Amino acid sequence: MAIRNLRLEGDEILKKKSREVEAIDEKIQILIDDMIETMHKYNGVGLAAVQVGILKRIIVIDLYDDNGPIVLINPIILKEKGEQEVDEGCLSFPNQFAKVIRPAEVTAEYTDREGKRKRVKAKELLAQAISHEIDHLNGELFIDKIIPGTLEYVESEEK
Ligand code: NI
Repeated sequence: MAIRNLRLEGDEILKKKSREVEAIDEKIQILIDDMIETMHKYNGVGLAAVQVGILKRIIVIDLYDDNGPIVLINPIILKEKGEQEVDEGCLSFPNQFAKVIRPAEVTAEYTDREGKRKRVKAKELLAQAISHEIDHLNGELFIDKIIPGTLEYVESEEK
């Protein structure tokens, strides 16, 4: 496994649309492992492949609960319900946080890393994370949908 370089604010790749994964081969498995390691290294809740420079529809999410990291390949949102106003950041925008409106509930379908098609009904932080990460796959960034006047810069402390 390896830490991959994060693509940061201003990098044009972040505005591009990612392509469907056609086969979950060895290369994709290594990419997924690296994405999880990179997300953990920077204490992120989620990471999309485009954020490490790969335009493929893969996201990883870890809420640091008992479920461990989850991997969503070719995810699609089937249904969204309600709204929640949340504090949000993004590993591509270090130290920046703002309030965003996300759906309160998201039902999504995706392929897991074993190739099985699955469905998840998410609420709260998981709904927020799925919504944020699927936006990345479509070249959409949280910074473009923040509630005006809520952007804050918070210096992270080195460990
Ligand atoms: Ni992000």
